[in-house]
Formats: sequence, structure tokens, C-alpha cells
Amino acid sequence: MQLLTNISTLYTCKDEGSQGDLHPIENAAIAWQDGVIQWVGPESGLPGEFAGTEVFNAGGRMVVPGLVDCHTHLAFGGWRPDEFEMRVQGRSYLDIAKSGGGILSTVKATRQASENELYKKASDLLDKITGSGTTTIECKSGYGLSLKDEIKTLRVYRRLADAKPVNVVSTFLGAHTIPPEFKSKREEYIHLIMDDMIPRVGEEKLAAFCDIFVEESAFTADEARRILERGKQYGLRPKIHADQLTSCGGAELAAEVGAISADHLERISDEGIRAMAEAGVIGVTLPLASLYTQEPFLDCRKLVDAGVGVAVATDFNPGSAPSYDLTLAMMLACNLGRLTPAQALKGATLYGAKAIGLDDRAGSIEPGKSADFLVVDAPSINFWMYHYVPDREIEVFVGGRM
Ligand code: NIG
Ligand code: FE
Repeated sequence: MQLLTNISTLYTCKDEGSQGDLHPIENAAIAWQDGVIQWVGPESGLPGEFAGTEVFNAGGRMVVPGLVDCHTHLAFGGWRPDEFEMRVQGRSYLDIAKSGGGILSTVKATRQASENELYKKASDLLDKITGSGTTTIECKSGYGLSLKDEIKTLRVYRRLADAKPVNVVSTFLGAHTIPPEFKSKREEYIHLIMDDMIPRVGEEKLAAFCDIFVEESAFTADEARRILERGKQYGLRPKIHADQLTSCGGAELAAEVGAISADHLERISDEGIRAMAEAGVIGVTLPLASLYTQEPFLDCRKLVDAGVGVAVATDFNPGSAPSYDLTLAMMLACNLGRLTPAQALKGATLYGAKAIGLDDRAGSIEPGKSADFLVVDAPSINFWMYHYVPDREIEVFVGGRM
């Protein structure tokens, strides 16, 4: 049995009440064994059976659940700093994509990289990401766009899941865009996804989810419906990159196909919000992507008020969101998405876990869940979000290990 004591306030973030209810415990302690939480409560009420074990001291600081980044594109070849300058100069993300830049330039670099090269780069990034407080991460393929290169990427994620202390869950995103060799044969590419890629990913259990980019420059809602239904036949739960740059009915489709989440949503319709609330689809806000593509920010408060649970994630990728700083995304979700700091925290913990189906073992500090938590050197959640600094001192416990 291991213990963490001397916690000023422990924000459990358990699944009760509204998105802003963090269910705090003052002067708290946590006990865990073999990486699983056994007891949480006020230190004065610690049962005798948990005493006299290995004890860590939080030094009177606050403790929150380990952060859950439920939307990243972690493994990719190359970077795209020149597109950043182009967008700053006024060219749009869609315009750059149409002229062969954007996702396709990363596809080229990812195809050229060996599995080991991709692994090394993603592994180094993941170590930094973990150090910044993320203890559970979702990682998408989607820069291979051939059977071989999609499998290569998903194998990298499987290796990371085996090698690293963090929880890694993978998503198949073969439907990220149409690759150049299928430019004038999009139906053939859709068949490749449905008949070759999805069966292989499903049979080898290389992913838990099937995602698709529903967008003018990528796939229509009708194409997405077919692909996501096929994914379901192979046990892949749907996710959608929806209504990011144009309003294409992505949110409505997410509700229709029973997606676990719909992500981006900058241009979601009121009907889309209603449909998601009714179907219980989690909305994932990705404010770093809005920032870097100079798009309007999602009004998260409108979703929360309509009864949609909102998760906050980074969308980390080399194009639209080249930062993996989830705390920064949370701060932006407050300032520009109108979430309160408490709502943003539950969005980057419990609701993030819900968006990837891991809320039975991550996202809150409760008995039975993985011992993933952060000791944060800030006097309150409000102060942490308000005085955003990239180098705030954080002690990360993942699977009970510091
Ligand atoms: O989530 N929107 C589509 N896909 C990514 C962008 C990928 C890229 O620009 O490389 C996103 O923003
Ligand atoms: Fe994305």
C-alpha cells in the first residue's frame, strides 16, 4: 500500500453533478496498491489498515486527476513551420490543403519514415507530454493513408502502450483525407478503407475507434456514414472530426451513428447541439486548433448549457495544432470557449476519459481507478488556469509511480 498525504485540496472530479462540480476534499489523502486507488478521503479519517506504508508528501499542495488528452495525432514524420507563416500571412488552412500542403505534406514525410523512426520521435514527444501532466492519451493514425503506412503508425502506438507508463489508446483515421494516388478515384480509396484497412485494424485489434474528417477538403457525411458503419462491424467505435472549417452535418451524423465523441465543432449548428445532447455524444473542444487555424472558437458554454459534456484536448499534430500543452488548451477553453476553470479541468479529466471510453479507470480520483494524479503547485484551480505558466511545477503520478 502506498499513500499520498498532506494534500491541501484534492479535486476528485467524480462523475456526479454538473461539469463544474469537482467534488473537492480538504486536507486529503489517497491510498493505492499495485497502481489502483484503494481509498480517498480526509487524512484525519484514514483507516488504520492503510497506515505505516510508503508515504509521499504533497507538501500542502493541491491534487487533481492525471490529465486525459483525448485527441492527438502523435506519430508523424516532419513538421510544417512554413505553413504556419503562410497562415499568419493570410492564407487559409483549406487553401493550403487544396494546393497539396497540409495533411498531404505530412503524409509524404510519414510514409518516408520507418516504423522505428516514427517510434523514436513519438516516444520522445510522449515523454515530454507525460511530464506536463497528461497520463492518458488518445493517438490517431491518418498520415499513412495506405494499408502499410496506417498499420505502421498503429503499431507505433501499440509499442508505446506496451513500453510507457501512460495509458495509450489508438484511433484509426484512414479517412483523414484522400491520398494523392487516389485523387481522381475517391470511391476506390473508400473501398480500400472499408474492405482492407478496417478489417485488418479490427482483426489485429490495433485501434479502439474509427475516426473520419468530415469536411469540404476530406469526406462527406454520406461517405462518413458508410465508413463508420463498417468500423462498427469490426468493433471500432465511431468518432468524428466535425464542423471544424465548414458546417457539414458532422455533429448530426455523430448522434445518428452513436459516435462516442464529435470533435472540433467550431461551426456546429443548433440542431447539431440538440442531437448530440440527446444521443449523449461528448463534444471535444480543441482550442489550440482554432487558434492556429485562426478560426472562431467553439462556444463551449452553449454546449454545456444544452446538456452536452465537453472534453478539452490538444489535437496535437504538425499542422493545425503543433502544441501538446493541455493546460494551455484548458486556459484557452476558459478565455475563449467560456468554460469556467472547474469545467475546463473536468473537461480535461473525466470528460476526456468519457470521450475515449476509459472513464471506468481514468479521469477521476476514486477507488478502483488507476492511481494517476498530479500534485500541482498552485493555490487553487482558478489560480492555476488564470496564472498560466508553461513551467508550473507539477509532480506526475501515473499508475501509482512518480
Ligand atoms: O484535427 N482536421 C483534420 N485533421 C487535423 C489536422 C491535421 C493536420 O493539419 O495535419 C486536425 O486539425
Ligand atoms: Fe484532429
